[in-house]
Amino acid sequence: MKRETLALLGGPKAFTREEELKEACRWPRFGDEEKRAMMEVLESDDIYGVIREFEEDFARYMGTKYVLAHNNGTSSIHAAYFAVGVGPGDEVLTSAYTWHLQVSQILALHALPVFVDVNPEDGTIDPEDLERKITPRTKAIAVVHVFGAVAPMEEIMDVASRHGIPVVEDCSHAHGAEYKGRKVGTIGDVGCFSLQNSKLMTGIEGGVLVTSNREYYERAVVLGHYERIPELSDPKLRRFNDRKAGPMAPSCFGFKYRIHPVAAAVARVQLGHLDEWNEVRRRNVTYLNERIGPASDGFVPPYEAPGTKRTWLNYLWQYFQDKMGDVPRERFIEALIAEGVPASRGRAGYLPVYWNPVYEERASIWGPGYPFEAPYVEVPVEYKRGMCPVAEEMWRRMVGLPVIHWKVEEDLLDELAEAVVKVVKNVDQLKNWG
Ligand SMILES: Cc1ncc(COP(=O)(O)O)c(C=O)c1O
Repeated sequence: MKRETLALLGGPKAFTREEELKEACRWPRFGDEEKRAMMEVLESDDIYGVIREFEEDFARYMGTKYVLAHNNGTSSIHAAYFAVGVGPGDEVLTSAYTWHLQVSQILALHALPVFVDVNPEDGTIDPEDLERKITPRTKAIAVVHVFGAVAPMEEIMDVASRHGIPVVEDCSHAHGAEYKGRKVGTIGDVGCFSLQNSKLMTGIEGGVLVTSNREYYERAVVLGHYERIPELSDPKLRRFNDRKAGPMAPSCFGFKYRIHPVAAAVARVQLGHLDEWNEVRRRNVTYLNERIGPASDGFVPPYEAPGTKRTWLNYLWQYFQDKMGDVPRERFIEALIAEGVPASRGRAGYLPVYWNPVYEERASIWGPGYPFEAPYVEVPVEYKRGMCPVAEEMWRRMVGLPVIHWKVEEDLLDELAEAVVKVVKNVDQLKNWG
């Protein structure tokens, strides 16, 4: 490759089709189908009916017995932990490299998160560290398919089944992803999905819980869906809102997690396009990986584990400073941006969740000492910097390239790839810059 002056240093800009790229990255886009579905809800005599229709479609798509739509992903995760029996003083194993609300739902049940380190290739939970951290108090394992990378489910399920611990899969980044031919969310005991606006399919806000375990489904219902309690088969749960039992006031266990029917209607339309959209993203990403990846072993494309079909919520490459002439990542990103490549500035990926005062200071949330030092805690859990070294390192290495959601001309991808390769190949020019 000929030596070209980087745009950051006054050379010509390598990527100039920025407006076209911006359009191709615009996400989500709502079309006539979603608008029609919304109007149908507004004009319907059965305004909540679409919720069941969405759930039936989702169950068919996933191949699970039970689907319970939620008002957001966070509430579906809360319900999942509750469903598998998490309660005060229990420990729940969770990845350190995830979205904070997946973890704080453990605290919402007065239980304690125990953070597990991640695999350096893709940031999914490390099964060996997972097993090391099991104690007699471990009540559940939470797995996230982070940024669409599918976690090593066979190893995780092996650990879980040997210890008799249920697994909750957070699939908020992985709608439609597969592990050895099975949809993620159906491998663990309960699967959860966010339908928030940025996700691969969306209702703008919304969430879904899936399970094939009737008991878990019924417990999720009793937590946050009072209107469905009369349908439950377990009399111990149905009795909280049993219309046949004579005059009684209804109740549930304190939450109202029903999805907005308009969100369900929009998400139902989007579900119908999910596979096709995932395929377009996959093709774009694969094309770019093949063209940028070989340029250097210091700039490594996102990992897709053998036997998995991951999704592309984000497009995070790993930058190894020591193999890139010791040029800091931030400088590399500035050079990409100068070429016209909209690489992510600042942090990309997640900081370890426990780098927050809630954990580091073990904040009193539910009253002095609760939950971290409450009487029901048998052995205190500490949150010290350094405890998940891979997760602590990971975010420093990430460089976000744009996710191209829609079909584009190959020459747009070629130009984009060439611009990135230009910076990779000429990274030494950045050594003395800035
Ligand atoms: C991994 C993960 N889990 C859970 C959630 C929470 O979902 P919601 O925003 O729908 O409550 C998110 C949201 O971004 C997420 O990224």
